[in-house]
Amino acid sequence: MTTSAPRPIRSIPPATGSARRVEILDQTLLPHQSRWLALGDLESAAHAIHSMQVRGAPLIGATAAYGLALAMEADASDAGLTQACACLAATRPTAVNLAWALARMQARLNTVAPAARAQAAWMEADAIAEEDAAQNRAIGQHGQALFRQLPQQPGRPLQIMTHCNAGWLATVEQGTALAPIYAAQAAGIPIHVWVSETRPRNQGLLTAWELKEAGVPHALIADNAAGQLILQGQVDAVITGADRIAANGDVANKVGTCLKALACAHRGIPFYVAAPRSTLDFACASGQDIPIEEREGDELRVVPGLDEQGNPARIRQIPTSEAVCNPAFDVTPAELVTTLITERGCCPASGQGLLALYPEEARD
Ligand code: MRU
Repeated sequence: MTTSAPRPIRSIPPATGSARRVEILDQTLLPHQSRWLALGDLESAAHAIHSMQVRGAPLIGATAAYGLALAMEADASDAGLTQACACLAATRPTAVNLAWALARMQARLNTVAPAARAQAAWMEADAIAEEDAAQNRAIGQHGQALFRQLPQQPGRPLQIMTHCNAGWLATVEQGTALAPIYAAQAAGIPIHVWVSETRPRNQGLLTAWELKEAGVPHALIADNAAGQLILQGQVDAVITGADRIAANGDVANKVGTCLKALACAHRGIPFYVAAPRSTLDFACASGQDIPIEEREGDELRVVPGLDEQGNPARIRQIPTSEAVCNPAFDVTPAELVTTLITERGCCPASGQGLLALYPEEARD
């Protein structure tokens, strides 16, 4: 079922207190069409994550939590809980927020009798979503403080580059990498954002759409233009989100992130990564241990858009016979990351830096 809706700022509305519904904005249609979609069962939630109707690490986690609540409405037995978790866990491999949300939900639901599990699941899913929104607001304030310390070039706004989409569309509210940008704009800091297109799924178009809706000055660039702009001094800092941060500070994020970090290191400008606790994987020693999703080749070969009449269209730009390789993420080594921005504050991208912010994660 689809409905049209007013301009959203929250990607997944709270469920409790309402008719226990899960509604998502179908991101496969953006930026051309803005359409809400109701998810009615476990399968539709799993499909939404796998097909990228919802995407972005924190939103994937929140959607999985709500998907589990839908599953508990149908079968709240121990076996039903285990099967539903397995189904959702198999949807996408790289963003650890998915496994984090499922583990948290499962731990909560294991303490509750089956008859009470559906209600408990809705409440826990809402709590996960609320926490994400609050953590992103905190990330916005910490990131904005970093922006204020950047050397200002006279007569030009702060020039920030981002990659992929790490705004409210990728989270529950605000975003991670975009939260400091929204906070800076709200604080009256003149800012301009370079938005890289992010082939092949073009999540940069989602960022451009978000920034346009929020009135933040920006320009979309081809991914390949980033190096030139950074090395020419047209960028003051790059900020991205993350899909998983290993215990040593290595960062997995949308493919293309690592190239920007390399260019920043060469030019000597900051490369920031913004992420909440749910993206930190203290059980993962380094980036080498992070599973990198490889997606189907047609994401490269076929370009979606609108035809001249404004109708949805798909153009086969590359023949099916052409061999392609489509890793969806890359790993940026910790030494290329200037600062991690979390809801607890900022730290160096290192094991020591992370443990200073999250001492409870220290292992013997
Ligand atoms: O494949 P996607 O669109 O789910 O990938 C999203 C990203 O890589 C984002 O940069 C990341 O999840 C950070 S989101 C706050």
